[in-house]
Amino acid sequence: MGEQRRPHLVVFTGAGISAESGIQTFRASDGLWADHPVEEVATPEAWRRDPERVLRFYDQRRDQVRRARPNAAHKALALLEQRGFAVSIVTQNIDDLHERAGSRHVLHLHGEILKARSSVDPRMHYPLPSGGIRLGDRCDKGSQLRPDVVWFGESVPHFPDACEVVAQADLLLVVGTSLAVMPAASLLGHAPLKAPCVLVDPEAQTLAPPGVACLRAPAGKGVPALVQHWTREGRLWLPETLLGGA
Ligand code: APR
Repeated sequence: MGEQRRPHLVVFTGAGISAESGIQTFRASDGLWADHPVEEVATPEAWRRDPERVLRFYDQRRDQVRRARPNAAHKALALLEQRGFAVSIVTQNIDDLHERAGSRHVLHLHGEILKARSSVDPRMHYPLPSGGIRLGDRCDKGSQLRPDVVWFGESVPHFPDACEVVAQADLLLVVGTSLAVMPAASLLGHAPLKAPCVLVDPEAQTLAPPGVACLRAPAGKGVPALVQHWTREGRLWLPETLLGGA
């Protein structure tokens, strides 16, 4: 495939793509936020009130991520890139499963759990101290280190970059997200008008905004099925046989 005319797939992923790897989603009845209220572990106020509890919560998340392995959906996206398609991934996930599967262009909208940052300057990133972040670990400005994740109520520094990536899509593949969180969910509105958009999610029919095609399936089945069609034909398209309720 010539470099100039490579079809560009932009993939926007949420917690659902990592569900089959054993990482809990957030908003299911047995999801993460049911046991750990957001306001107690994932806001700047929670951090000010009880940093130890917040660090403990992210230690557990990190253990879960380290135990997890990329699943068929992560692997299919990496394979598509290896087959010569331009693939850009914008993920809401803080895990590193896209990278471990082999994807090379991954933008983490909500940060990365395997990194640390200053608590006074979001631009100051640090490798994770061995054994995790502990109270007393400090940045170069003297502030406590915190997980490099975006909390509720904080701005999303990579949002403008994500908008630029989505605006370059020939096709937008959205996987495993309830589209409940802003500004992330508004990314769909930045795709070019001519670029088709499909949501792969077991709840796709209920969640897909108007104009977005639905593939009601778990990521580990739906994504490899699409990738198989695309690699076979060397183009990005939406096979009617896979979709319902576009
Ligand atoms: N394959 C695909 N999708 C799945 C699967 C699966 N195997 N299992 C569940 N899902 C879907 C659910 O149907 C749901 O639509 O994954 C979605 C998960 O939604 P949420 O839990 O709301 O997660 P997400 O959309 O990623 O949340 C966005 O909110 O909590 C914050 O910062 C956090 O990045 C997160 C953001």
